[in-house]
Amino acid sequence: MQVLLTREQIERRVQELAAEIRRDYPEDEEIHLVCVLKGGFVFLSDLVRCLHGRVTLDFIALSSYGKGTQSSGEVRLLKDVDHALEGRHVVIVEDIVDTGLTLHYLQEILRARSPKSLRTVCLLSKPSRRQIDVRVDYIGFSIEDRFVVGYGLDFDERYRELPYIAVLDGEDAAGAADPRS
Ligand code: IMP
Ligand code: MG
Repeated sequence: MQVLLTREQIERRVQELAAEIRRDYPEDEEIHLVCVLKGGFVFLSDLVRCLHGRVTLDFIALSSYGKGTQSSGEVRLLKDVDHALEGRHVVIVEDIVDTGLTLHYLQEILRARSPKSLRTVCLLSKPSRRQIDVRVDYIGFSIEDRFVVGYGLDFDERYRELPYIAVLDGEDAAGAADPRS
């Protein structure tokens, strides 16, 4: 497995993202983070500890991939948020934007709930894979079209615990489904 982003690189960038986000809202306004499970949980936990001021958070779960590494293009809501979004400054916290289909769907359903504002932060983006023009206000790192794991991101539920982000190669995926089928 080849390390793409080290723990230190991620840590520095997450701090920068938190500062950028905080700057964009009036100082006394609360920011409501909506973390997309499961991949976003590590990013959320680091981000929230760097964010100054008033912050609240909630979780949502969507289906994206099954066991492989290709998006099915079909998105389903598995777990909704617990709290209403009306009148709040909502920031979606997502691990990665790939085709953009998941995020596009999520933004549509959350926007329909009348938040005061709706923005999105993604730790990673694969711009060359985009199938839909989705707006991402804050991006940690733009990366090439490689399947990555670690820091919350999985392959078949494995590798989420890695403190860095690595490129998955054939050998790591062996035993599970073929990553490109
Ligand atoms: P999209 O709908 O194609 O943009 O896919 C979004 C979701 O697919 C992300 O939230 C991830 O859960 C997953 N995903 C996309 N690329 C990767 C990757 O390289 N590694 C792990 N998960 C990924
Ligand atoms: Mg995700």
